[in-house]
Amino acid sequence: MSLSRPTVLKIGGSVITDKNKELGVQMEVISRIADEILEANTKNLVIVHGGGSFGHPVAEKHAVKEGFTEESQIIGFAETHHVMTVLNGLFMDALIWRGIPAVSITPSSCIMTQNGRITHFEDSTLKHLMKMGFIPVLYGDAVFDTTLGFTILSGDQLVAFLAMRFNAKNIVVGVDVNGLYDADPKTNEKAKMFDHLTLAELRNVQKLLGGSNACDVTGGMANKITELIPAIEHGIPVLMVNATKPKNIYKALKGEQVRGTLIEKE
Ligand code: IPE
Repeated sequence: MSLSRPTVLKIGGSVITDKNKELGVQMEVISRIADEILEANTKNLVIVHGGGSFGHPVAEKHAVKEGFTEESQIIGFAETHHVMTVLNGLFMDALIWRGIPAVSITPSSCIMTQNGRITHFEDSTLKHLMKMGFIPVLYGDAVFDTTLGFTILSGDQLVAFLAMRFNAKNIVVGVDVNGLYDADPKTNEKAKMFDHLTLAELRNVQKLLGGSNACDVTGGMANKITELIPAIEHGIPVLMVNATKPKNIYKALKGEQVRGTLIEKE
């Protein structure tokens, strides 16, 4: 049993949920992505999914990210965590019933943050199951925070953290747009997509990127990039593809030619 360099796959919440409808799940999309994960048969895969219309609206309603200030937020934290476990359950269903040996790891039980940044991660279970050939599945979650009481951990911070902790071979990020643009492609038809960016180029476009339109407590595309930069600095390439389009996740996992944005250190 050895731990070789994993691929970390993030599936955005906007891909697997309907961001305009609270608790709206895109079950056909989840099923198709599960088919692609099965077919790609990637060695040492770690999966992280986002919250979309499950985690974000509840977290926003109770200001969970801002931390504990009043008693009424306690149930809000519990609800936010709960709806994430419900979404995770639906995602796990699709994987398990296809025979993918996926095991859900609950971030709020093994991770703590300090002012929103991961400081404690009890990773022995995760390491053990990876060595045994299981596929861990984590998600953006409501977590406990040593200064704030609690907060929201984005799937993107988690992806970069896991990739660095396990010296990942690569990161694949599945989003609901074709890649990284110099403006929001959903509102600006002149937005130009990048096929390839170095870290230096990425830093230049970083300031052009805005937040997300839909309810998103973790900050949209600009924040996604900020979170991924430390992993890219570590030499871990990031490929961003449109996971709402069939075959893209499969191709990205297989290392086949695919439309998207590849971001590398140099
Ligand atoms: C957010 O996770 C989790 C919660 C709001 C509880 P992400 O920030 O990774 O979710 P998406 O991908 O943007 O939806």
